[in-house]
Amino acid sequence: MDHRPGALRSRNDVGEMFGRIAGRYDLMNRVMTGGRDVAWRKLTVQGALRGFAPGTARVLDLATGTGDLAIALAEAGAGEVVGADIAEPMLREASMKVRNRAENPGTVAGVPISWVVADGLSLPFEDNEFDALTVAFGLRNMPDYDAALREMARVLRPGGRVLVLEMTPLRAPVIGPLFDLYFTKVVPVVGGVLSGDYDAYRYLPASVAAFPPAGNLAAMMESAGFGRVSWRLLGGGTVALHSGISLGGAFIDA
Ligand SMILES: C[S@@+](CC[C@H](N)C(=O)[O-])C[C@H]1O[C@@H](n2cnc3c(N)ncnc32)[C@H](O)[C@@H]1O
Repeated sequence: MDHRPGALRSRNDVGEMFGRIAGRYDLMNRVMTGGRDVAWRKLTVQGALRGFAPGTARVLDLATGTGDLAIALAEAGAGEVVGADIAEPMLREASMKVRNRAENPGTVAGVPISWVVADGLSLPFEDNEFDALTVAFGLRNMPDYDAALREMARVLRPGGRVLVLEMTPLRAPVIGPLFDLYFTKVVPVVGGVLSGDYDAYRYLPASVAAFPPAGNLAAMMESAGFGRVSWRLLGGGTVALHSGISLGGAFIDA
């Protein structure tokens, strides 16, 4: 396959980088995507909870960051949500958001929500623990995509659904080079000014360029133990939402 097997930097470097920008992360997201990230997360939530009666699905939001997707899952009727991330400062932002809501700490809309420091490559969860798993803009940052996908399949029960929302390399004749210009020249400057961390926003376009195109990612998901894999492109082809069903931890790619 014409892609790198994992992120450009080690998990510690990536974790530290997100730790540094945690306080400005939400603002940068809204500015960079023009607020579209909110709609993309909504689609992810709908895909993850489809077919579950309200209050029944135990969901892991991996690489939860500042927790927006985890919170949206709880608001949309998950039964329980766990948000996991390698960067503790990101999780602090997430748990502050929940605490700032005037309800019981540890719940959102009455749904239990918890935050766990965890590495996507060795999750501190049992096999088959979750009914659904979401990961938004997280897989691209993990040092071994295949291993991370296998770990997701392991913690999902057989038949459990995975939703991977991620930026995808844009290969379009006119829009492609224009987006490239925006992403490689404008984003690092705006991101650098707003977050004070130019390096993080230079890493962002580089990590997307190195990430597998949507078709390749689908094939990787199949090799990692997911079936019924499909995807749709969003954001003018800059973002892909993949979904699949875990075939059970017993599946091993030969
Ligand atoms: C771009 S942010 C996405 C956050 C959130 N999911 C969102 O949609 O806004 C990427 C997140 O992945 C986390 N991350 C990176 N490598 C990780 C790893 N190996 N295990 C768990 N989380 C990781 C980072 O700490 C960061 O919070």
